[in-house]
Amino acid sequence: GAAKAEAAITFHPANRAVKQRFDETILDAGLRQDINLPYECRNGGCGVCKCTVLAGKVDPGLYQPNALSAEELAQGKVLACCATALEDVEIEYDASAVRTNIKEYTASVVELTRLTHDVMRVTLKLPGSERIQFKAGQYINIILDDGQRRAFSFANPPHYGDIIELQIRLMPGGRFTTHVFEGMKVGDAVRFEGPIGDFTLRESDRPIVFVAGATGFAPVKSMVEDAFRRGIKRPIHLYWGVRQLKDLYLPELPQQWAKEHANFHFVPVISEPAPEDHWTGRTGMVHEAILADFPELKGHEIYACGSVRMVEAIFPFLKAHGAEDGQCFSDAFT
Ligand code: FES
Repeated sequence: GAAKAEAAITFHPANRAVKQRFDETILDAGLRQDINLPYECRNGGCGVCKCTVLAGKVDPGLYQPNALSAEELAQGKVLACCATALEDVEIEYDASAVRTNIKEYTASVVELTRLTHDVMRVTLKLPGSERIQFKAGQYINIILDDGQRRAFSFANPPHYGDIIELQIRLMPGGRFTTHVFEGMKVGDAVRFEGPIGDFTLRESDRPIVFVAGATGFAPVKSMVEDAFRRGIKRPIHLYWGVRQLKDLYLPELPQQWAKEHANFHFVPVISEPAPEDHWTGRTGMVHEAILADFPELKGHEIYACGSVRMVEAIFPFLKAHGAEDGQCFSDAFT
C-alpha cells in the first residue's frame, strides 16, 4: 500500500512522535530520528524489530513468515523494518530487545580476488586500531548510498578483529554485486553495520553437520576455522552443494582442513555436473547426500546456510531422518 507521506509515528516507551517520510519504514523513520529501536537484519527475517500497533493503520509489508506468525499479525504485531504507517499511528516496541553491539563502521577495501566465475573475495580493513567484535557465523549489512542494506557473512574467523573477508556472489542485475565486480577498487570506502545474527556454533559435544549452498560456504568457513583455533574436537561434516564444478570456489581449503584435522570431513556435492567437469564425486541435491550418509540424524547439530529455497527445502527431509527441532540452525539469503 502507499504510505501516507508525513504520517506521524508515536513510539512507546520512548513517548516521542516522529514524522515518516514517503517510502520509509517505521524502523527507518524511528532510527533516523534517534529512537533507539531494536533491529538486526532489517530484512523481515529475524523478528527482532517486532512491535505492536496500538492505534492507527499500518501496512505490514513483505517479510518472511517465520519472523512473524499469522497469529501475531492478527494480534496487531508487525515488523518495523517492513511496515509503513498509512496514517498517524502509535507503536509499542520492545526496548529490552535492543542490540547494543550493532554499530556502524567504515572500512576500506584492501583486496579484491575473483575466486571463481561469479564469486569475489572482498577483504576490508578497519582504520587504525579500530576493531569489530563478532562471532563466527554472523554477518554485516553493507549500507548503500541510498540507505539500502545488503547482507554478507564474515568469511574469516573473528580473532583478527580489523580484517573482514566477504565472499560476494554476482547476482545478475544486482546493483551492488555488479558494482563489486565492475567498479569496486582497492582503497574504496565501504560503510556497513554489524555484527548481526545468531547463526553461531552452540556449545555442546554433538557431532556437527554443516550444509552450505554456494556462498553459504562463507559463514561455515568462519565457524570451522574458529572451531579449529579453539581446539574443538567434535566431528565436523561439511556438505557443500553447488550446481557445477566451476561454482565450487576454494575447494582446496576444505580439502586441506580434512588432511590436517582428523575430526573434519568434506563432501562436495554437484547437482548438475557439466560433461567437461568429468566429475566423479557425489551428485544430486545436497540433502540427498547427507541422508545417504546419515540414515539417522538424531543427536547431531545441523547448521545450514544457503538460499532461502535451499534452506526451506532441506529441513523437512533432515527432520524426517531424526534431525531435532532445537538442533537445526540456519542462515538463509535471497
Ligand atoms: Fe529483522 Fe526486522 S530487523 S525482521
